[in-house]
Amino acid sequence: IPTPLIDRHGRAIRYLRVSVTDRCDLRCRYCMAEKMSFLPRSALLTLEEMALIAERFVARGVTKIRLTGGEPLVRRDAIDLVHRLGRHVGTGLDELTMTTNGTRLADHAGALFAAGVRRINVSLDSLDPATFRHITRHGDLGQVLGGIAAAKAAGLAVKINAVALAGLNDHALGDMLDWCIAEGHDLTLIETMPVGAIDEDRADRFVPLTKVLGQLQARFELTPDARSTGGPARYWRVGDSDVRLGLISPLTGNFCAGCNRVRLTTEGMLYTCLGHEDSVDLKAAIRSGGLAGVDAAIDAALAAKPLAHEFRIAPGAAPAHARHMSVTGG
Ligand code: GTP
Ligand code: 5AD
Ligand code: SF4
Repeated sequence: IPTPLIDRHGRAIRYLRVSVTDRCDLRCRYCMAEKMSFLPRSALLTLEEMALIAERFVARGVTKIRLTGGEPLVRRDAIDLVHRLGRHVGTGLDELTMTTNGTRLADHAGALFAAGVRRINVSLDSLDPATFRHITRHGDLGQVLGGIAAAKAAGLAVKINAVALAGLNDHALGDMLDWCIAEGHDLTLIETMPVGAIDEDRADRFVPLTKVLGQLQARFELTPDARSTGGPARYWRVGDSDVRLGLISPLTGNFCAGCNRVRLTTEGMLYTCLGHEDSVDLKAAIRSGGLAGVDAAIDAALAAKPLAHEFRIAPGAAPAHARHMSVTGG
């Protein structure tokens, strides 16, 4: 039996995030520049290799896999990967899930459910069509809302992710929560993180969630809810509804002490922290040494996993590193 995954700080790694592709059909302003260069297709893991590596993590104690990107559903045959990994749900995996921008959900929601997915996170930063278009540069709000409705109809629980952005959606987050209560979606708010070059200064849009929480508490009855989804959010129960509000506050409330995750990129790099360059090359490992090579590389990565990110948002400050979240997988 391979050793369970414990990092050098004693944290058990049970959550693997996989960036299925760094590509995306949107260009959200806090995430990407308008003109992006993406990884050449020749550099990518095949979906077979991605599955083999992910299955190795399951054999070594990972109980939750989230497929991310970029937009996972823009990679051809992404659903085949979901089906392959879905076989492990209930026998090793507690949860196979996805974070998506929702543009292609209407086509794929049924297949996701059939493959064993029960819950997905959908990025939705505004319910105003013009603001949504502005933030995403290309997005069509109706298309995403249609995707969310299709997911719900297919039996998937949908959690909405919204990055709080000053002057764009920060005044509308209470209305967003009302909409989520009406629709039965949990809502997670996220502080913008300084990863990857974009065309604006993230400091101009940064909103501390401590402030947003204060505003929401004036309008909603929020009670702390200790149940975790295994991700970084801290949750509040909203009134007497079943809906939960989650806050992901890397800048104002560091959660790294409880980190349980690592990230596999579409190129086969394993990053042990969203905020650091530390990585090992699992593509080289699997191609030269098979799964034994993968095991050795994973062990080396965990022996070097950083304690915490050092994100800082300040006017004119450079990103923590050039790698975009779409490459690392968030
Ligand atoms: P749940 O399973 O619903 O808890 O989802 P999740 O929050 O783990 O995943 P999701 O893809 O919805 O990510 C929401 C936000 O959390 C994204 O902005 C991620 O980049 C961010 N996030 C996830 N893990 C980490 C982490 O370890 N560090 C930091 N700084 N951000 C993270
Ligand atoms: N900071 C915070 N959140 C981000 N996301 C993408 N880029 C950033 C960033 N720089 C969000 C997306 C998606 C989730 C995976 O991460 O909106 O919901
Ligand atoms: Fe695409 Fe998600 Fe980045 Fe928006 S936040 S550009 S939807 S990867």
